[in-house]
Amino acid sequence: MTETPLSGKRVLLVGPSLGAMVAGPLKGAATETAGVERLPQAVSSAYDLVLVDADVWEAQTLAAAIQALSTNPRAAPVLLIGQHLPTTVVRNLLRLPSSDVLDAPFSPEQFAAAASGLVTKTPVEAEAAPLAPEGGSHCWAVTGAVGGAGATTIVVEIATALAQRSGKDKSVCLIDLNLADGAAAAYLGAQPAMRLSDFGSSPDRIDAAMLQAFVTPVTKQLDLLASPRDPDAFDHASRETVLRMLEVACECYEWVILDMPRHRRSWTLEALSGSDEILVISELTVPALISARSLAEEFETALGGETKPRIVLNRLASRMFGPAPSMSEAERALQRKADAGISSDWEAAAAAANLGGAIAQHRPKSKIVKDIAQLVERLAADAGRSSATSKRAA
Ligand SMILES: Nc1ncnc2c1ncn2[C@@H]1O[C@H](COP(=O)(O)OP(=O)(O)OP(=O)(O)O)[C@@H](O)[C@H]1O
Ligand SMILES: [Mg+2]
Repeated sequence: MTETPLSGKRVLLVGPSLGAMVAGPLKGAATETAGVERLPQAVSSAYDLVLVDADVWEAQTLAAAIQALSTNPRAAPVLLIGQHLPTTVVRNLLRLPSSDVLDAPFSPEQFAAAASGLVTKTPVEAEAAPLAPEGGSHCWAVTGAVGGAGATTIVVEIATALAQRSGKDKSVCLIDLNLADGAAAAYLGAQPAMRLSDFGSSPDRIDAAMLQAFVTPVTKQLDLLASPRDPDAFDHASRETVLRMLEVACECYEWVILDMPRHRRSWTLEALSGSDEILVISELTVPALISARSLAEEFETALGGETKPRIVLNRLASRMFGPAPSMSEAERALQRKADAGISSDWEAAAAAANLGGAIAQHRPKSKIVKDIAQLVERLAADAGRSSATSKRAA
């Protein structure tokens, strides 16, 4: 078979008829056809080239998708093909690290020249993978006892506090394991970029470099791994893929903070047993406290007492009004002492969520920030004794 410039290359075809349009020059390429909604996730670790048929998509939709892709420094090269190339689309295309346009009609030779120009360019330097942490890695898992208890809010603040405390680039990774509808990215005002379903039955393809293609940098120190909304995400990501992703993350980051789904998945217990802290977040209602106690007991039993979950009471009012249980009543319902408390501050929590970012960033004086700092200091002091890397490897 004669070699074509795209032989062996991974090409994403954004447009239903592109395959037929450029059949000859695409010979030997591994092609995949998708709609324009896939464009923002077309990173260079997944595709060597993206072909876009500009004539089939509405200009505004296409311009927005290209703009979204251009926010990712690891965007794959894009070749835009069409008879009518709208200026808004072309202008956004220029923001990409590597792109070209080809006016239709064109000859197979013209297509091959444009495509090979893009794929043979030096690939955009992939975001440097973080170096393996010297003192090992620590993984903390956080889960809500009931929906809306504040788990995601607390995960975001813990990750932010650790990032500030560490000061080292790429030292903390927040992983939102609510794969179908996680909110961590929205709370941080960041674009989720993790697509675990791409790995199907080959989780071994996930390595440090691949992980970086999924990461959304939030600050220099803090990275986010979160998936775009997808109701079927839990069915599409295999247990092995999720666990492999966690393993690689623990090899790369000093601190890995997991926002765990409340309902148990096939990988939940393994993710927890690889964590050196498990925080169960409860609010101050009797049903939530009862759930927190049951959940903590379930984990403790299932993990054979390996890691004792800690119960964190969230949204503590400085003065108790009305029917909210007092701390001692709460501890009676829990049948144990709570391990920590986080003050209630609706204004700060809402302001941060609406502005996108941590409460520590938008309302640094909030009591929530102070309480989280205390909790982080306490847990981090204990963290020296065990390392998630070694636990996971065991
Ligand atoms: N300490 C707090 N003070 C005031 N409001 C808070 C506090 N913690 C969380 N909230 C608010 O409570 C709501 C639920 O928080 P969050 O989304 O973090 O809960 P969750 O447990 O992650 O929910 P889900 O079950 O949907 O995952 C949000 O509006 C958040 O701003
Ligand atoms: Mg949540």
